[in-house]
Amino acid sequence: MADKRKELLSAARQARKKAYAPYSRFHVGAAVLGPKGKIYSGCNVENASFGLTCCAERNAIFAMAAAGETEIRELLVIGESEEFLPPCGACRQVIAEFAAPSTVVHMCNRAGACRDSTVGELLPFIFHLKKKKT
Ligand code: THU
Repeated sequence: MADKRKELLSAARQARKKAYAPYSRFHVGAAVLGPKGKIYSGCNVENASFGLTCCAERNAIFAMAAAGETEIRELLVIGESEEFLPPCGACRQVIAEFAAPSTVVHMCNRAGACRDSTVGELLPFIFHLKKKKT
């Protein structure tokens, strides 16, 4: 698992280079490990209408979903601050859609040191809806 964290860190760092953050200048990268071992990454993309900004975590998760995979095995996010970067509330709900409460989330600081948590710790009492049959 430690190896995967290394790979996720490297993918998230690469993605962070592409951050579009002209308003906050806070560059974020995220990477998720899909069910078959593939890594999907994303960066934050801001908008002049600030509320339309999308976080790095959600962009990485949506890249995974767009590739047809709907299970997060592990997620890593890295920002630019000295503090470990915890996913925002909106991202926690999106992570929970595709992850188990036991899924590990690595929250990293700019030096690449990470603090680990789980989806269940980050978002207790997860809101779920019953899925409809197709
Ligand atoms: N941001 C993320 O991409 N992920 C987080 O977990 C927290 C915040 C972005 C959104 C915005 O572009 C910038 O960081 C400042 O909030």
